[in-house]
Amino acid sequence: MAHAEIVRMSEDALDMEALRRAGRILKEGGLVAFPTETVYGLGGNALDPDASKKIYAAKGRPSDNPLIVHIAEWESLFPLAAEVPEAARRLAEKWWPGPLTMIFPKSDLVPYETTGGLDTVAVRFPDNAIARELIRQGGGYVAAPSANTSGRPSPTLAAHVEEDLGDRIDMIIDGGQVQIGLESTIVDFTEELPVILRPGFLNRQMLEEVLGEVRIDPGLLKEDPSVRPKAPGMRYRHYAPKARLAIVEGRQESVCEKIRELVSAREGQGAKVGIICTEETRTEYPTGLVRCIGSRADDTTIARHLYEILRDFDADGVDYIYSEAFDTPRMGQAIMNRLIKAAGHEIISA
Ligand code: TXA
Ligand code: MG
Repeated sequence: MAHAEIVRMSEDALDMEALRRAGRILKEGGLVAFPTETVYGLGGNALDPDASKKIYAAKGRPSDNPLIVHIAEWESLFPLAAEVPEAARRLAEKWWPGPLTMIFPKSDLVPYETTGGLDTVAVRFPDNAIARELIRQGGGYVAAPSANTSGRPSPTLAAHVEEDLGDRIDMIIDGGQVQIGLESTIVDFTEELPVILRPGFLNRQMLEEVLGEVRIDPGLLKEDPSVRPKAPGMRYRHYAPKARLAIVEGRQESVCEKIRELVSAREGQGAKVGIICTEETRTEYPTGLVRCIGSRADDTTIARHLYEILRDFDADGVDYIYSEAFDTPRMGQAIMNRLIKAAGHEIISA
């Protein structure tokens, strides 16, 4: 396939001509990557089984890992879901459009190719204006996984999409850097109580403010790696950098000291070593390739840069990466969920 056409626009200056063209590509069964507030998505017509198959092929994704259907109007939910509980309506009222995906029993309209063979469907109404207009132009139902090659970190810039999928899709809409940088929070409404299948910008407390008691999928807790996560995509090693990544946790001073020790041992063996630190600790590391991910005082900055940093270290060809742990109150749960997966559960305590 020819290289994807790349078009640039911003949320407050939509290029309607390009969006109409992108919508036509979707209606004709093609693939368009686009920005959302969480990460870039790889869009195809969610109601077209062949488009879904193309998405799996382009990403190299296992076909039992279901896709999220993106909509651009609240009313579009009802043809997709066989049942929408009252609690989900309340949550949508507060957080849609936004970084929230909800799971319902699926209707017959949704092909099994899109849901990876499941009888449930994941639905998200994104807030990004480019995404919403593309969905409208494309017929209202856009299946979109993150626009990365399966197993690589999700894209937070159009350049990441181009790197992974530039030769495999029809168009990339470049809307600049995404706001959040981690994938949407997924809440499952097909069980007795709502269950978080993937943490994100919306944390448990924010969900409980609307829903009352919310459970966390036991497969997500790091205490018990033997329980399988319910969301198929959360079972794979994912978000993985090429280097061996380890997380160092403990009190701040001990963490810095431990990382310095580990780095100098690896450098002594002739390895190239990367360090992921924060504004608060950036002066603590005299050697190694030091990258500052953001500030602990505002952990949304850490979330925004995580995937970009992992990709940048890939480009630098480091052999080892040591990262501080980020058990911050607001987004720590989501950040550590992704970081622990990227590290293949390698955690060192200082
Ligand atoms: O923020 C996001 O959600 C981004 C943007 C593009 O919207 N999309 C995204 O899609 O992260 P993807 O495919 O990378 O992740 C979807 C996750 C996977 O872990 C998948 O297994 C899970 O959602 N999922 C989808 N449908 C499901 C279902 N019916 N039941 C359980 N898990 C489901
Ligand atoms: Mg993904």
